[in-house]
Amino acid sequence: MNIIVYNGRIVNPATGIDAVGYIIVRDGRIARLDTIGEIDEGRAIELSEEYEVDKMIDATGLTVTPGLIDLHVHFRDPGLTYKEDIESGSKAAAKGGFTTVVAMPNTKPVVDNALTFKYVCDKAKEVGLVNVIQVGSVTKGMEGKELSDIDGMKLNGLITISEDGKSVMDSGLYRKAMKKASELDITVLAHCEDINLVEKGVMNMGAKSKELGLNGISNAVENIITARDIMLAEETGCRLHLCHCSTKESVDMIKDGKAKGIKLSGEACPHHFILTEDDIPGNDSMYKMNPPLRGRDDRDALLKGLKEGIIEVISTDHAPHSAEEKSKPMEEAPFGIVGLETSLPLSYTYLVDKGIISLSELVEKMSLNPARILGIDKGNIDVGNVADITIFDTEAAYDIDPETFVSKGKNTPFAGMTVKGEVRYTIMAGEVTYEA
Ligand code: DOR
Ligand code: ZN
Ligand code: ZN
Repeated sequence: MNIIVYNGRIVNPATGIDAVGYIIVRDGRIARLDTIGEIDEGRAIELSEEYEVDKMIDATGLTVTPGLIDLHVHFRDPGLTYKEDIESGSKAAAKGGFTTVVAMPNTKPVVDNALTFKYVCDKAKEVGLVNVIQVGSVTKGMEGKELSDIDGMKLNGLITISEDGKSVMDSGLYRKAMKKASELDITVLAHCEDINLVEKGVMNMGAKSKELGLNGISNAVENIITARDIMLAEETGCRLHLCHCSTKESVDMIKDGKAKGIKLSGEACPHHFILTEDDIPGNDSMYKMNPPLRGRDDRDALLKGLKEGIIEVISTDHAPHSAEEKSKPMEEAPFGIVGLETSLPLSYTYLVDKGIISLSELVEKMSLNPARILGIDKGNIDVGNVADITIFDTEAAYDIDPETFVSKGKNTPFAGMTVKGEVRYTIMAGEVTYEA
């Protein structure tokens, strides 16, 4: 499809553009981009004729950015498709403004070999609504005993590995995986959790867990593995990206590690930089995720980290579960909340609208930086590039209603919250994958 998007505010941090203009998409790529201010309808029609445009999008008052990239989602296929499947997950991604997502391998079976890896990649292509980058697990079956067939998956296009859902507790084995990642030039995405310290914790260890009489997860559970992983990244030279950072100590360690020149980056999720344990109303599993909502000082450190560029990625950890699973009390329900359909409005409302970061910095964290971390040629709307574009209205305010989610998962702690920022169009490789 050939498209003209005109009179929108184009925000493209890769080229330093933040100005009103138009973009012409032809045969899946960006054929022309001009930031000459507003054009009248006559000129838009003239350009449409010149470029054989079949769809005109008047983006007056809207923001036009590179397609959003989520470095952390769970699409649950194979094996757990009652929670989500590639089609429902892809639809949720497109609706959330995402053109690329990174899918974690903790499925059933685990994505630890070329065959399963290829199965997900092929299915995602068939659905064709979002570019799915499938992650390979670090160890077979995520059992922490033996390395996965990383070479086999690499031959089929693997660019990143992770044991998300847990950490590889055998440091020797993990170091081997990191060495391999370094040799193969693939990124390691790290979920940092010392399982031996969890002791049946279901929420942050603090005043709230005491009040509710629930077992707590201390900051040390995350911090110890964060420290180990950074040290091993330094030793092996691999590119390490820390998933869903939740503690103030993690932010400090990322800052120090980067200062030392280690190839290191970190992400934060909206729930961790917006909510704290004080927001948990009671024993309610909509507030149960791993890592848990932390204390106020941790939340404030994440905000500071985002502001100062220490944390350069916003991801969702989109973790859909069934209504039945999440209706159980915290002691029994699985960890995780959905995020694809709320990430942009929440991040816009709590970071940009509150003046913590600029709109351009938001686009960096939700598109350009994730692309750089993965080493993929995305996150930049420029002439010649694949046309992955997100168009949204920063002024539209509405209440989050999980019943409107297209994801199978309705598990969110943000129900009823008023936010600003609504996706109007998502364009992936020149095709409209979502239109409000
Ligand atoms: O909250 C979480 N949910 N954290 C994880 O590490 C795993 C994820 C899931 O797979 O549900
Ligand atoms: Zn995780
Ligand atoms: Zn996860």
